[in-house]
Amino acid sequence: MNHIAKAVEEVKALLGDRLSTAPAVLNTHGENETYFPHTPPDAVAFPNGASEVSEIVKICARHNCPIVPWGVGTSLEGHALPVRGGITLNMQNMADVIEVMDADLAVRVGPGITRERLNAELRATGLFFPVDPGANASLGGMAATRASGTTTVRYGTMRENVLGLEVVLADGRILRTGSTAKKSSAGYDLTKLMIGSEGTLGIITELTLRLQGQPEAVSAAVCSFPSVADAVNTVIASVQMGISMARMELVDPNSMKAINDYSNLNYPLEPHLFLEFHGSSAGVAEQADIVGDIAAENGGTDFQWTSKTEDRTKLWHARHNAYFATKAQFPGQLGLSTDVCVPISKLAEAIAETQADLEAHKITGNIIGHVGDGNYHTLLFAPPEDKDALNLNLKLAGRMAERALRLGGTVTGEHGIGMGKMKFMEAEHGAGWQVMAEIKRALDPQNILNPGKVVEIN
Ligand code: LAC
Ligand code: ZN
Repeated sequence: MNHIAKAVEEVKALLGDRLSTAPAVLNTHGENETYFPHTPPDAVAFPNGASEVSEIVKICARHNCPIVPWGVGTSLEGHALPVRGGITLNMQNMADVIEVMDADLAVRVGPGITRERLNAELRATGLFFPVDPGANASLGGMAATRASGTTTVRYGTMRENVLGLEVVLADGRILRTGSTAKKSSAGYDLTKLMIGSEGTLGIITELTLRLQGQPEAVSAAVCSFPSVADAVNTVIASVQMGISMARMELVDPNSMKAINDYSNLNYPLEPHLFLEFHGSSAGVAEQADIVGDIAAENGGTDFQWTSKTEDRTKLWHARHNAYFATKAQFPGQLGLSTDVCVPISKLAEAIAETQADLEAHKITGNIIGHVGDGNYHTLLFAPPEDKDALNLNLKLAGRMAERALRLGGTVTGEHGIGMGKMKFMEAEHGAGWQVMAEIKRALDPQNILNPGKVVEIN
């Protein structure tokens, strides 16, 4: 019996039916949303709490068995694929709202809860959790990948919205980081070390999240532009003027077609900005007026404003589904959703060069972006049998990453490293990547926590 089989047998004795080796279950946990090969684990465990996770980790440490935490499997860089085999930890039984601390604008949750479910459960409190990646991701996965989304321009990423964590370390110790206080200067910031560590330094078993009050007034708008550059220049001018925007999203004509078809909408097939403002009624009206003027100066037309909740929900639902909408335009093909982020002053240059690169290589690629943050994506597809097409897409993504670094940005604003972006880590971080490996070695010397992601240590 090999070392992984021994670990599986012992975890089976601990969990009984909550350890599965059924082929259908293994297959589901070997899937990913993009182009990485199907990679099922040896077993899937469904733990009920931190102490069980700790016991599983101790067993795995004894047998040198890899462990990969798994939320809902929506990550885009192969983060949750068990590339060295081992046990996947599915967090679906740890998905509760544990405590709403409304007087402190905070909530404690299990890592398996999804962002939509959390907000549904918070509705009656008048509070909400703002971070909203495209997919209905789990909060544990969002913290692990330092995710962000359409509201980040106003409310920040997971980094700004997690107050504390409970984490199981590679030796089974259960660690509590942070507190419910708004700030702290008590030593190294272990919360932020874990956020973005992609399951390689510890397994998140509970999160304390910062909440926001529902704004008094919310107004959303859709506006079309003669070119992507005009839309982007509107964004840059608005950000540079310090206007408080809650959402500022670029959608290019290809993406508009995908969104129209998928969500049954009828927007013109032009470059668009999707905008939203939060605040007092007067504040929202004032901000909207200023952005409206900037948009008009850049050729923006067809402004459609709405403050009706129902219309806004429809708009943002359509935007959140943009990747799936684009996927539906290329049935059966392998997707690649690239993600870079640049300083706002370089955004127009970065996107224009990306457009020119797509044209020069005759690649169909949709551009969308959280442009208020300088963050944009190109969504690329290739038939599974056409390796050349996939390689062409990967090369374009590589040039986007190099461009972002040249312009003072980062190779990923929100999707994370996983397997897909490891090749750029040295270029982005230099000696910093070695320091990351030293941290990994200190916390997980056997390399059992999500091995093959972020850093290599053996
Ligand atoms: C989005 C994903 C692709 O922005 O990040 O929809
Ligand atoms: Zn995104």
